[in-house]
Amino acid sequence: MSTAERTEAAQDGRLGRGVPLAFGIDIGGSGIKGAPVDLTSGELTAERVRIPTPSPSTPAAVAATVAELVAGFDLPADVPLGLTFPAPIKHGKVSFIANLHQSWTGVDVPALMSEATGRPVIAVNDADAAGVAEVAFGAARGVPGVVLVTTLGTGIGSALVVDGVLVPNTELGHLEIDGEDAERRASSAVKEREGLGWEEWAARLQRFYETVEMLFSPDLIVVGGGVSKKHDKFLPLLRTRAPIVAAALRNSAGIVGAARLAAAGHR
Ligand code: BGC
Repeated sequence: MSTAERTEAAQDGRLGRGVPLAFGIDIGGSGIKGAPVDLTSGELTAERVRIPTPSPSTPAAVAATVAELVAGFDLPADVPLGLTFPAPIKHGKVSFIANLHQSWTGVDVPALMSEATGRPVIAVNDADAAGVAEVAFGAARGVPGVVLVTTLGTGIGSALVVDGVLVPNTELGHLEIDGEDAERRASSAVKEREGLGWEEWAARLQRFYETVEMLFSPDLIVVGGGVSKKHDKFLPLLRTRAPIVAAALRNSAGIVGAARLAAAGHR
């Protein structure tokens, strides 16, 4: 497709014409990001918008921010919204929450967000959304067998995808390793907080990845999250049996995966 054609398609996409389109929203500990996604290519059809996560990050405050973000786009009423959330989501409800306000526990996220935005919404765990996107459009595209996608950020997220089918809510960041919650030792937020150098951090990641590899024998491990753009600093320091590679979609993976699941009518 030429640049002119792509621009035209993107504009059509913004207006909901021409390309199959859904809107993805990624709720994180520090920012809430959203963009429309072309479901054929997995590309964003407009610039991603980011609004800082409100503090305290209560359900009402976050829902108001999501509504503000969506209202900033000129979306036709029938464009589905897919939303990622940094917690296990079982039939729409938050099972427990590590890195946002504790009052999220038990909240029905699609119901809350549909009321706030006036649109149908689906909700999915953030790492699961990233996994779906990497398998459909990114580093794990076309890879058969067991793919483990991990996200390194405020916490550690995981998505287990077997022959293209997601096993939801795996929560491997909360594995207890050497007596400690894995993400409290090895997330990229911990690297920042404790001022760890790449080698010190990689030693902690090594314990995490060798443990999950022992438990799940993946065929491919994909590493995402913001820090994955610096993958050359730490991935070469890790020793795993399976290939371990950086996520291809980087920071857009959650948005793209959520949009894809929204269009598929995920529940
Ligand atoms: C949560 C997961 C989430 C991960 C990354 C963990 O603390 O329990 O559900 O995927 O952080 O945000």
